Amino acid sequence: MRLLEEIAHIGRDPHTGGYLRYAWTPADLELRAWFRAQAEQRGLDVEEDGNGNIFAWWGSGGDAVVTGSHFDSVPQGGAYDGPLGIVSALLAVDELRSQNMKPKRSIGIAVFAEEEGSRFGLACLGSRLLTGAVDPAIDLSDRDGVRLQEVITPAGRRDDILARIGCFIELHIEQGRALTQPVGVASAIWPHGRWRLDFTGEPNHAGTTLMADRRDPMITFAFTVLAANKEARQRGAHATIGRVSVQPNATNGIASRVSAWLDARAAATDTVDHLVSAVFEKAQERSKRDGTSVELTTESVSGETLFDTELRDRLAKVLDDAPILPTGAGHDAGVLSAHVPTAMLFVRNPTGVSHSPTEHATDSDCEAGVAALARVLRDLTC
Ligand code: GLV
Ligand code: MN
Ligand code: MN
Ligand code: MN
Repeated sequence: MRLLEEIAHIGRDPHTGGYLRYAWTPADLELRAWFRAQAEQRGLDVEEDGNGNIFAWWGSGGDAVVTGSHFDSVPQGGAYDGPLGIVSALLAVDELRSQNMKPKRSIGIAVFAEEEGSRFGLACLGSRLLTGAVDPAIDLSDRDGVRLQEVITPAGRRDDILARIGCFIELHIEQGRALTQPVGVASAIWPHGRWRLDFTGEPNHAGTTLMADRRDPMITFAFTVLAANKEARQRGAHATIGRVSVQPNATNGIASRVSAWLDARAAATDTVDHLVSAVFEKAQERSKRDGTSVELTTESVSGETLFDTELRDRLAKVLDDAPILPTGAGHDAGVLSAHVPTAMLFVRNPTGVSHSPTEHATDSDCEAGVAALARVLRDLTC
């Protein structure tokens, strides 16, 4: 808790208590410098992969057991989503050392860049670059129009680092209310993705344009928000429109264009596909009535992640039959799982609130998380 407290002020909005820790901004750079100092204090070898990710190694061999998470946050994020996994990794190493453990396999701590995609729009950007899942020349810009390649020159796939990773285990706060014990093990990540809907209409005067004469994209947008909610409920899926941009954004003007980002997730890929198609169909139908137009762009999709069953079961057993549960949240562990055996540990979230300043886990559950991670690392390396 002291380690989390040390970084609690970094990137925190003093008015809301929420975090604004976007990749490669001063808050993020301060967190990385803090991590490097922590790793060096522990005599770990720090390596940067040229994609924004940092590794701290205990031991030099391959087949390493790597654990870690991310520092970056969503806009107005909580204190635990990401940093808990990094802090817990540092403390689990301390725990093994206090037990005089001499691991037979190397242990690595990973800090992944831009997991939330809050700056450049693509979630898990750091782990996707490292594994070659995206091209280092990918065309991404932040909300100020700054290109990714102006911020870093991504190194792209790093086979040398991938070759060192024997398995990956990410500890993370659970982000719903599904976990009723202090620590659980993940089974799967729901398929999910991000789509952009661009609604175009005719900008005009708010006072003089007859209601019947309007081609107002805001109306088509509003209808689509409700349609997304209804279509998701009907399928037992999740649809969210949590980000919107309006042009020209005037109080006394009808909008010319509304862009809205749709986040869609479900237990099965088919359900996600059908959900997005249905939402787009409803938007198109409505746009005909409104005299507007609507376009759909796929920004990113992530297929279902099924974590390594052997590793999952081993973790659950080491942790005295800890519960096993799926999640609707995305993680770097999902990206890593396409390359190495991967598992996740979840720490209970008593309110189920996440991606919010009020996200919380109790001190004793966080301590249980560290103890669980230490037991898992000991089981796999000693
Ligand atoms: C990341 O936390 C996500 O699931 O969007
Ligand atoms: Mn998150
Ligand atoms: Mn996270
Ligand atoms: Mn996440």
